[in-house]
Amino acid sequence: MTRIFSGIKPTGHLTLGNYLGALRRWVDVDQRRADALFSVVDLHALTVEHDPARVRRLSRQAATLMLAAGLDPALCTVFVQSHVDEHTRLSYLLECTATDGELRRMIQYKEKSARARAAGESLRFSLLSYPVLMAADILAYGTDEVPVGEDQTQHVELTRDLAVRFNQRYGHTFAVPRATRPAVAARVMDLQDPTSKMGKSHEPGAGIVYLLDDADVVRKKIMRAVTDSGREVEYDRETKPGIANLLEILAACTGPSGQVGPDGLDPRELAGGYDSYGALKKDTAEAVIETLRPLRERHAVLASDIGAVDQVLRDGAERARGLARPVVDAAYRAVGLLPAA
Ligand code: TYM
Repeated sequence: MTRIFSGIKPTGHLTLGNYLGALRRWVDVDQRRADALFSVVDLHALTVEHDPARVRRLSRQAATLMLAAGLDPALCTVFVQSHVDEHTRLSYLLECTATDGELRRMIQYKEKSARARAAGESLRFSLLSYPVLMAADILAYGTDEVPVGEDQTQHVELTRDLAVRFNQRYGHTFAVPRATRPAVAARVMDLQDPTSKMGKSHEPGAGIVYLLDDADVVRKKIMRAVTDSGREVEYDRETKPGIANLLEILAACTGPSGQVGPDGLDPRELAGGYDSYGALKKDTAEAVIETLRPLRERHAVLASDIGAVDQVLRDGAERARGLARPVVDAAYRAVGLLPAA
């Protein structure tokens, strides 16, 4: 059976980008057709300055939202990365497989390190090694597919390179995974700056729709989205990034029969149905509100019974450990480390 792994890091409140780019597909498609594991990858939240209490709170909240969105513990495994030691155990072996050069070439590292340097802040070493831990997350489970948004493609490519290199050096140990992306909304852009990604770690602002924003807030943010010069509603990411972004969001939130579907409609076709920016914004706002409504309602119920969420995470970690341990033990043996017993 196909094995799927993906994760969300608790560095901020989850956004519409996380939902349309990743989470919704995990729920609608991945958990039903494969043996899927989904993780709150909390160790990744420590690569930048962080407040311990906030990371703890956001980790719980991310897990609760994943379940509220529809991940079903009877169909898939939901767990917290730091509860399974195999991730960090394997990460070290992969640090001994990766090169300094290939890590420095990662776009996210380049962007984040440039920002930190410009602000005169020092960089944590783990920011550079971040993609190695991510590779360990994936490879520890013999993963075939990694459903992610567009921004993670390069990290999954690196993971493939590390798996192939390790296998060539030490004998076949890891499955070589591939990234899968949604047909639309693989990169949801900030509503106030449609040339940059809608990111949960960014400063909170009017350009980011959070999954727990209430309907009025969502409506306001979308109605105030920055649009482009001209008046034609056309799908063109280069010349009309604001309108293209709204069309993608609308397409992703509106299925062929008016229902939410994993791949939605074609944003180019949708464009033809609008002769004003205002009408497009209004429909997009309502589509997003309807898409998020059930999630927010279930979140309210789950958040009032956090013991049940914790139990899901405990069971999930136990299953994850059982899957990862033999893979990571085999990797330890393959590189020449003496078995403990
Ligand atoms: P993270 O936490 O930034 O994002 C979680 C998922 O949401 C997707 N995503 C988006 N998709 C479309 N538009 C956006 N604006 C948008 N913003 C985020 C991301 O692509 C991702 O799929 N490094 C990863 C976490 C991670 C991971 C892993 C993922 C750690 N280990 C192993 C997969 C497998 C990250 O920072 O995702």
